[in-house]
Amino acid sequence: MEGMLKPNSFKDKTIIITGGGTGLGKSMGKYLLELGANLVITSRKKEVLDKTASELMQQTGGKVLAVACDVRKYEEIENVIKETENRFGKVDGVLNNAAGNFISPTERLSHRAFDIVVDIVLKGAYYTTLAAGKNWIQKKQPGVFLNIVTTYAWTGSGYVVPSACGKAGVLALTRSLAVEWAKYNIRSNAIAPGPFPTEGAWSRLLPGELVKKFDPAQRIPLKRVGDHQELANLAAYLLSDYSAYVNGEVVTIDGGEWLRNGGEFSHLEMVPNEMWDVLEKMRGK
Ligand code: HXC
Ligand code: NAP
Repeated sequence: MEGMLKPNSFKDKTIIITGGGTGLGKSMGKYLLELGANLVITSRKKEVLDKTASELMQQTGGKVLAVACDVRKYEEIENVIKETENRFGKVDGVLNNAAGNFISPTERLSHRAFDIVVDIVLKGAYYTTLAAGKNWIQKKQPGVFLNIVTTYAWTGSGYVVPSACGKAGVLALTRSLAVEWAKYNIRSNAIAPGPFPTEGAWSRLLPGELVKKFDPAQRIPLKRVGDHQELANLAAYLLSDYSAYVNGEVVTIDGGEWLRNGGEFSHLEMVPNEMWDVLEKMRGK
């Protein structure tokens, strides 16, 4: 649960985090500031961003620029890049973290509800990626993208279908550009987190009684949810020059959750030792 990288690993580096005013974006941003980065946080709600910026600057002594931006609006992303360059000179990395999500049986969704999530998750990530990538290529600057997906980006998942479609697209974006833009010295990687408690995710994915009914920790072999610093360590590594040879990778950080729930016989963890004794006797040992 402690910071992992060397102090000043991000000295003179500027990182933009979409959705950086709350939850995991805020936690990853805080750690990057502790490592010496200049931080730019963006999302739709300027008042939330301003509050987070002053809190983080007070806690870390680092520099934070808060710029309101809806990732579904290309010109607003271009403006974030312009404001970042005005304030810090250049952009070194982009963390595509903004997302929208809620649970619902798919047949209950309107087409607008589907659009709204896919637009934030997928269009938001490719707009941000396109704007930042074109800028780096034009200026012949290196850069790094880190995209936050989920483990259901590859398994799919009922009840969060728009999010699953959007995240699958972001994973394809990550892998495609890792290859295509490597020639410009632009890397692309992704992280697939399992459950990490945040107000944003818990209020939408475990609303009301669901939080009491379904304890996410019980689905996880390590029997606990993630700690924000564990994710921040991984994100900082993948955004840093220490991972200079890592490109096109998606790193899962979920305590073993998705493999356990895909494993044909994982449910046998419910079989008590006494029953294993009986089964062993039955096969004549
Ligand atoms: C069904 C819903 C809905 C719900 C909204 N809609 N909430 N439909 N179930 N719970 C429908 C509305 O009826 C409307 O369709 C359309 O979606 C747009 O709704 P608005 O409220 O106008 O949209 P907006 O205010 O822009 O809100 C966007 C949002 C919201 C995506 C709906 O949740 C949001 O702002 N989220 C941002 C943060 C977030 O979601 N964080 C969690 C990420 S967690 P109609 O047809 O009526 O107009 C995550 C973790 C994954 O991704 C993995 C965990 C392990
Ligand atoms: P969160 O706090 O709700 O973060 C989502 C952020 O996205 C918010 O700051 C929100 O800010 C921003 N956002 C939403 N729509 C936007 C838009 N149109 N334009 C710009 N910003 C927008 O939830 P979180 O749990 O920290 O999630 C962060 C990331 O981790 C997401 O990509 C999520 O899918 C992923 N993830 C989370 C978990 C988990 O267990 N928490 C697990 C797997 C993956 P505004 O409302 O101000 O715009």
